[in-house]
Amino acid sequence: MARRVLAFFCLLALYSSAPLMAADTIHLSVDASKPGAKIDRNIFGQFAENLGHGLYEGIWVGPDSSIPNTRGIRNDVVAALKELKVPNVRWPGGCFADQYHWRKGIGPRDKRPATVNSAWGDVIDTNAFGTDEFMDFIQQIGSTPYVSVNVGSGTTQEAAEWLEYMTAAAPTALAKERAANGHPEPYKVGFLGLGNESWDCGGAMTPDYYVSLMKVYSRFVINMNPAQRSKDQMLKIAVGPGTPDATWTEAVMQAWKKHTWAWDINGVSLHWYTVPNGWPPSTPSEKFGLDDYVKTIKSTLFMDEFLRKQEAVMDRYDPEKKVTLSVDEWGAWHAPLTGSNPAFLVQQNSVRDAILASLNLNIFARHADRVRMANIAQMINVLQAMILTDKEKMVLTPTYYVFKMYVPFQDATFIPVTFDAGTYAHGSVILPHVDAIAAKGADGKLLLEITDLDAESPATIDVDVAGIVAKSAKAETLTGVAVDSINTFDSPSTVVPKPTAVKVQNGKLSLTVASRSVTVISIEP
Ligand code: AHR
Repeated sequence: MARRVLAFFCLLALYSSAPLMAADTIHLSVDASKPGAKIDRNIFGQFAENLGHGLYEGIWVGPDSSIPNTRGIRNDVVAALKELKVPNVRWPGGCFADQYHWRKGIGPRDKRPATVNSAWGDVIDTNAFGTDEFMDFIQQIGSTPYVSVNVGSGTTQEAAEWLEYMTAAAPTALAKERAANGHPEPYKVGFLGLGNESWDCGGAMTPDYYVSLMKVYSRFVINMNPAQRSKDQMLKIAVGPGTPDATWTEAVMQAWKKHTWAWDINGVSLHWYTVPNGWPPSTPSEKFGLDDYVKTIKSTLFMDEFLRKQEAVMDRYDPEKKVTLSVDEWGAWHAPLTGSNPAFLVQQNSVRDAILASLNLNIFARHADRVRMANIAQMINVLQAMILTDKEKMVLTPTYYVFKMYVPFQDATFIPVTFDAGTYAHGSVILPHVDAIAAKGADGKLLLEITDLDAESPATIDVDVAGIVAKSAKAETLTGVAVDSINTFDSPSTVVPKPTAVKVQNGKLSLTVASRSVTVISIEP
């Protein structure tokens, strides 16, 4: 039920209790003459860990598979991901990264040793999907590698040699080995993760112990690609927190403030999952109702507060915002699907997840001056996935379609929107009725996104646009008949974006957004 609302200016929502009819109009003001920060395309990054069927079956089927593939990589998955213009892919983990020894995953595949993936279910890992296969995948989808090195159980030497294998152009022994493995040209590595969750699965380290290791890895793990020496430099991302406690970030930023020529970092990570009932995750990912929906959405909105707390610490050491806050794991973590291996983190993906994705992307966009990177967890078959596969079958999830709808926001310029958010109350949970962001796209078009969080009522929207004269507009909406609507292998188009009517008159826009929906409007000046 919608109730009366007060002003919602960017991040501020204040509520009162006088009733407002569901069909009442919500008014948005967009001012294109006040551009903000660039919405870095890297906030639309993905995470592909060696976990469950994320890599094996999800990406890698092997060259001899009857599933159509290019050098062992699924063609259907590649074609779908190309549409998302995935800016970067984080690999090989996650917790797995701190157990990965890269040498086991290079050279002739029939000679690679079988190992145990003790991070995720103790399953046998053939190591068939190693460095060169990952780089091939990256090249096929047109993305950039974000490689996390093993700080927990590896050595600086092992990580340094991995970077040499990937990036050396000079005929070193490792560069020659890469050439012998089919890739004479050095790879470009865009981002380097210096460990993962080193306070927990990455080695249960204290902040001080991690900071010492971070400096050593930063100093010696060198990108040797000549094409990345003066421009396109590799950015090094330090481990950050997984709770709003500031201790870890303080330690990393304090060290960074005093860094010398010998080492540097360009980002600090932050991991935060939407787990509304706490650990272990217990919200169902299919066949759920409004109670679960509102609880999950309320919980996901905490991302904004978490970011603000981290930014307050970072701003004290780095007011110029040189160091990126990289949200390199985020998304909904629901209970494992019945019958699945619980270590494989398999869950369904519904309209609820689509709304959760758009809310988080909007939060990142509002923090664009500091949050210049983010990676949803995870890309395929794991947690809040873009794609689900079952042998030769593939289905695109509602979250996939949100990422597709947001492609025009990649590298767009943030534009402030002022609006009355309205409220949606279910039981004791009160949510904003709508959320919105605006941006100026690289092609000069004005972009507006409106999420209707209200599972029961549409919103009638009118928009004032200052700074440009709006001539025409096109809109697409993603919604479903219920918050738990999903796409399945048998019914893959249940939740897909559809055109929505927008009226443009005297430079003003008006439209109705469906309940529980995500709408992107492209406005021609
Ligand atoms: O994404 C699943 C796991 O969640 C990652 O491996 C780990 O970094 C986090 O705890």
